[in-house]
Amino acid sequence: MIYHDAIVVGGGLAGLRAAIELNRHNIRTAVISKVHPIRSHSVAAQGGINAPLGNHPRGIHDTWEKHAFDTVKGSDYLADQDAVIRMTREASERIYEMDYWGCPFSRTLEGKIAQRPFGGAGFPRTCYAADKTGHALMHTLYQQIVRFKQASERKEMVVYDEWLVTDLVIEEGICVGIIAFDIIHGKLEAFEAGAVIFATGGAGRIYGKSTNALINTGMGMAVPYWAGIPLKDMEFIQFHPTTLFGKNILITEGCRGEGGFLLNNKGERFLAKYSDSIHAMEVAPRDIISRNSIREIMAGGGFNDSYMHLDLRHLGKEKIEQRLPGIREICRDFAGIDPVTDPIPVQPGQHYTMGGIDCTTECETVVKGFYAAGEAACVSVHGANRLGGNSLLDTVVFGAIAGSNAARYIHNLKHRKCETILKETLKRTEQKLDRVGKSEGTELPVDIKNALNIIMDTKVGIFRDASQLKEALYEVKALQDRYKRIKLHYTGKHTNLSLQWALELRGSLDVAEAIIISALAREESRGSHYRTDFPKRNDNDWLKHTLAYSIPEGVRLDYKPVNIGPFEPRERKY
Ligand code: FUM
Repeated sequence: MIYHDAIVVGGGLAGLRAAIELNRHNIRTAVISKVHPIRSHSVAAQGGINAPLGNHPRGIHDTWEKHAFDTVKGSDYLADQDAVIRMTREASERIYEMDYWGCPFSRTLEGKIAQRPFGGAGFPRTCYAADKTGHALMHTLYQQIVRFKQASERKEMVVYDEWLVTDLVIEEGICVGIIAFDIIHGKLEAFEAGAVIFATGGAGRIYGKSTNALINTGMGMAVPYWAGIPLKDMEFIQFHPTTLFGKNILITEGCRGEGGFLLNNKGERFLAKYSDSIHAMEVAPRDIISRNSIREIMAGGGFNDSYMHLDLRHLGKEKIEQRLPGIREICRDFAGIDPVTDPIPVQPGQHYTMGGIDCTTECETVVKGFYAAGEAACVSVHGANRLGGNSLLDTVVFGAIAGSNAARYIHNLKHRKCETILKETLKRTEQKLDRVGKSEGTELPVDIKNALNIIMDTKVGIFRDASQLKEALYEVKALQDRYKRIKLHYTGKHTNLSLQWALELRGSLDVAEAIIISALAREESRGSHYRTDFPKRNDNDWLKHTLAYSIPEGVRLDYKPVNIGPFEPRERKY
């Protein structure tokens, strides 16, 4: 049995920031990640991280209150306002911390951290490192992890990479550890821990057309869900308006923040035709632009009935090279075009899961000693629609909060005996893995995965209705049934990715079911959740959070109130 005071599951920004905070509080910490931390999906974040620094030479005076209001309004009033206030109040401190740790932020001429406009604010609030902000932040945090690993005065910091967590172990409502699968050696281990933090990222790869890395299967949400912890607000899936047509690689909102135009097949800036984007145009929130792009395509304004143009040509070569070099590289490598001379073909694609593991502003869950942070968690600061640039902020703010609360909890922890439950769970999981590994069925996991992607893309997308959602539910249930008859191509012990993907597929199917059932129940339109059969927001009945519980028959739903603070729900106009 392996012991660490604290285990952080997930090596992206939220996980690493949590681990640093734990170690600063003298907690012996381990980070467990499916991939090397630097390969976490956080590294793919492009456009920036929000904070009301007010550094832009022509920007307006910014405050955390304005940032909080924009976030709540962007969320279509579903965000918990105490959580939003906490995040926006701490935003600047977290950015300067990253700056002092060496994050290579882009600079203004005066040497201050540069900021660009992103959706929802209407003026420059988004700090950036060209268009590779996630990459810059990830390397900065990982360098701190390496420093802590080497510093003799610090408590231990261990990183297990290429380990998949399969179980959360809970005894009498208290988290006592995890079971994890060593992917390279094909072996399960039980880990005892004083506290566990899940920072495993989103579930984007349940969809086919997604900006997410292939590792974002939703397994990190499924594991606590199977252990009885509810998933909150899963119906709210964000679709980013500009993903590269055909490949769905993210084409950052920073392109529009820097002045790029979205054009239809007549060369018109079509967002002017729609009342909810007529003023903010290309920097309206993502849910609005994604819907209006699809409406325009349906009305015949798309190219090949499938995509729009994102035009950066008027920005000029120098600005594109300086501010958007990664976008130029992506366009050249994946579309054979150069945005300096050609418009970029773009279409909306799945980008973010607003929902996740239900937790409080302190990142606590219903299980003592179990915390969640980052995209895996639903605090909730994003409500029904996240503003661009708030996701990276969420990771570093709530990563630090989860770490410091878990540290306090561990310091007060009394000795307990939990070997038996850990050993029993390990044995059960070993038997389960054995069954999956040796199954003699006929169904290939890849076929089930592809079928799931098509269902989610076509029936649980930007526009939804009851009949499509019911069909999706029926079809996902059929896939869950087919899953019982899977067979693996490879049954060896070492680096059995076939087995890993099969295990994760079960998580994807169950999380997809939670998304669909939550979406079917919510008979209104709010933020990213647009029901064509209920096109209006309905605060009387639906200003509440959805909770999805895993039960043997499928999913049980419950609800809880939204924490409304100083910002009274109003009509959302941009
Ligand atoms: O468009 C982007 O650069 C994405 C940013 C975000 O999701 O916050």
